[in-house]
Amino acid sequence: MKDPKKTMLFPPPHFSLIGHRGAAGLAPENTAASFKMAKNLGINWVEFDTQCCKTGEWVIFHDDTLERTTGKKGRLHDTALKDLEKLEVGSFFAPQFKGERILLLKEALHLLISLELHANIEIKGDYTEDPDLLRGFISILSQDWPKTLPPPLVSSFHLETVKFLKSNGLEVPYGYIIEEFKPDALEVVKKEDFFSLHCDYISLSAEDLKWLKKQQVPVLLYTVNDYETKVRLLNEGISAIFTDYPNLLIKD
Ligand code: G3P
Ligand code: MG
Repeated sequence: MKDPKKTMLFPPPHFSLIGHRGAAGLAPENTAASFKMAKNLGINWVEFDTQCCKTGEWVIFHDDTLERTTGKKGRLHDTALKDLEKLEVGSFFAPQFKGERILLLKEALHLLISLELHANIEIKGDYTEDPDLLRGFISILSQDWPKTLPPPLVSSFHLETVKFLKSNGLEVPYGYIIEEFKPDALEVVKKEDFFSLHCDYISLSAEDLKWLKKQQVPVLLYTVNDYETKVRLLNEGISAIFTDYPNLLIKD
């Protein structure tokens, strides 16, 4: 992992598209339907969000609160798995997706394996108060992702989470996510020997992109939903982008 050029995740000059929350513009985010949609559109990689619910299980869910995607009040962290299992996360998007449910992390991994998709797992939440939950995450990845496959790329906005996983023996490539690009964040990626820096493409100037090109660290940008921006970033040497609309970006 020392020299990203030697890794096969995003081998330069190859440019990768990563389906954001599956294909969140075309199917309900972070669901089986969304992952299958991404696969059907020719995507090789999907990003999804995972966090722990009240009873300690890792589930696939983006928001802190339930309302936007389930229509129910409450917080994910305060809801037990048995109650999450009763929720439906498809019809907020469109009626034909009614019946989609919240996946457990291990279910999502098994589905991605069967679909032959690479995984970028984004960890939401702060687990500094309860590191056993992160140990549980390590166990799931160790048990439910075959050693024969390229490991998932594990990322988070929470630097301490990424550092904890790395120092506790989970041997995967790591991504550090930030919103606004800052050169300091790239120094963190280099110092901690992470694989990649992920940030919002809006925050990058043409000068930032030029500088990043020289840094030899894969940069992954979210969330790009138009073809022209994709082509511009590709020409600037960006390693991969996250998109909600793989159908709009795969034209060549
Ligand atoms: O992992 C990249 C991107 O998904 C981060 O933002 O809010 O969509 O999880 P968000
Ligand atoms: Mg995400």
